[in-house]
Amino acid sequence: MDPKALEIEAQSAIAGAENLAELDDARVRFLGRKSDLAQALRAVRDRESGMTLNTLRGRLEEQLDQRRAELERAELDRALAGDQVDVTWPGDELPLGHLHPITQTRRHIEDAFLGLGYEIREDREVETTEYNFDKLAFDKWHPARSPRGTFFFDDTRLLRTETSPSQIFALEEREPPIYMVSIGRVYRRDAIDATHYPIFHQFEGLAVDRHITLADLKGTLLHVMRAIFGPDRRVRFRTHYFPFTEPSIEPDVSCGICGGAGCRTCRYSGWLEMGGAGMVDPRVFENVGVDPDEWSGFAFGCGIERVAQLHYDFPDIRPLWEGDLRVLTQF
Ligand code: PHE
Repeated sequence: MDPKALEIEAQSAIAGAENLAELDDARVRFLGRKSDLAQALRAVRDRESGMTLNTLRGRLEEQLDQRRAELERAELDRALAGDQVDVTWPGDELPLGHLHPITQTRRHIEDAFLGLGYEIREDREVETTEYNFDKLAFDKWHPARSPRGTFFFDDTRLLRTETSPSQIFALEEREPPIYMVSIGRVYRRDAIDATHYPIFHQFEGLAVDRHITLADLKGTLLHVMRAIFGPDRRVRFRTHYFPFTEPSIEPDVSCGICGGAGCRTCRYSGWLEMGGAGMVDPRVFENVGVDPDEWSGFAFGCGIERVAQLHYDFPDIRPLWEGDLRVLTQF
């Protein structure tokens, strides 16, 4: 083997390698275990030719390392140039969620009452006949006690049909004065249509203090309806009956679509029904140990779906329960 000739051949193979794979081929060929150089080194018998071959091997390894570094740098440059990112390119838009229209309406209502100094509370949805009916002075024959109208678990437990049990909880928890609003889900065995669903939400207010009158109830509802629907609204009362209020009334708010002139939404009456209300019945006070000669109060209850329906002006409440984004994203 001619070391000089070998060196020239190896150098040109190393310098001519265009990429790391070719360079590795050259390494195997000239420095590998079966290469001429390796075999010659194994056959060496004298010191001088051993030194010559060893320095040759050292030079070739050095050249190999140099060329490898060059090729690696070139490969990195190529990759960097190819992978260039345009940071000004618009990104993929992430769909952001938002609050359900019922939650928006609920917060709106809460704001109106918090502004009046009311406390907001939430109570259980599984109720007893005692709190849902008895303490609220429902007579034994009242139709809401029938399993045709109410979801019962057994004789004494049911899904609350209204938020009115919160009145009892609030009165039992502490002495008046009390100004509270209870908000949450209620359940009735209603057939589903555009304005009815077996689950819905109510907000329920209770104010108990000295010298509270029906005028306070009217002023409060007027303020809240204006906060929710706008400053031009008017409120009127029609007489009604509820077991736990006396007198009982149904408040109407003037129709915001026609301004009271009469239109389809208000069935050409100029007014929209807004729920139930009245002065707390002395029997309720007696049921919770509050002296009706010292304290008086008013209560009111109203469906949140109905408020939302009027506020956003949609014809059907069913989609509110169906989670259909094509509908919900509109609000
Ligand atoms: N709980 C009654 C209902 O659901 C509404 C109401 C609340 C009436 C408070 C009077 C006082 O119909």
